[in-house]
Amino acid sequence: MLECKELVKRYKEKCAVDNLSFKVNKGEVFALLGSNGAGKTTTIKMILGLVKKDGGQIILADDIKIGYSPETPYFPPFLTGYEVLDYYGAIQKIPKDERKNIIPKLLETAGLENNKTRVKNYSKGMLQRLALAQSLLGDPQLLILDEPTAGLDALGRLEMMKLIGGLKNSGKTVIINSHILSDIERVCDRGIIMKNGAVLNTWNKSDNNEKSLEEIFIDTIGGI
Ligand SMILES: Nc1ncnc2c1ncn2[C@@H]1O[C@H](COP(=O)(O)OP(=O)(O)O)[C@@H](O)[C@H]1O
Ligand SMILES: [Mg+2]
Repeated sequence: MLECKELVKRYKEKCAVDNLSFKVNKGEVFALLGSNGAGKTTTIKMILGLVKKDGGQIILADDIKIGYSPETPYFPPFLTGYEVLDYYGAIQKIPKDERKNIIPKLLETAGLENNKTRVKNYSKGMLQRLALAQSLLGDPQLLILDEPTAGLDALGRLEMMKLIGGLKNSGKTVIINSHILSDIERVCDRGIIMKNGAVLNTWNKSDNNEKSLEEIFIDTIGGI
């Protein structure tokens, strides 16, 4: 589905992404793991074409549509969830009739159906779920979710992880950035552990690891 080969991004002297290579297979939930500043968001932004790479290659399967949920979702505050999706759908040139049909379904998926609340009054969890719904507009095969559980309480995180598990079951490929390892362990199949823009270790759930992902992460990154 996606292959990144020797990706490089420099900001002046800082090498944010340093010769990073990984592959994501169709239908899997793949995690980019690492502490703050590891280079996860920069990697995602290069894949999306939002940040220009300084080196390397990004190989995407042909005609793949990508949905994206950013690290800090922002929506026009006076719109309702429905209106936000209608607005973003119109930008994507999804015909009006189709929008009328799919938006209630997307809101239902995100647990926001029949909700007339304006975005400015949304909880953090509702915002993150609306961002997920927005990323599903246009029915993309690949979803890239940057910190989808950031700032959520335990229940909110559980709901989000259930939603992501449901996406996998419906055949989507998902890339998640996170440093909340218990969430990742629940829903992801594989991942890489990054530090200073490079891969330090890989994790594969099917290896039936003796150690928890958290232990593997701390062993890799170097804890206290
Ligand atoms: N626009 C930018 N200008 C300068 N430095 C940046 C910029 N974006 C990110 N960085 C730096 O690149 C590194 C990686 O950042 P980022 O990709 O946001 O990490 P993560 O998402 O893993 O927390 C950090 O040291 C960050 O300060
Ligand atoms: Mg980030």
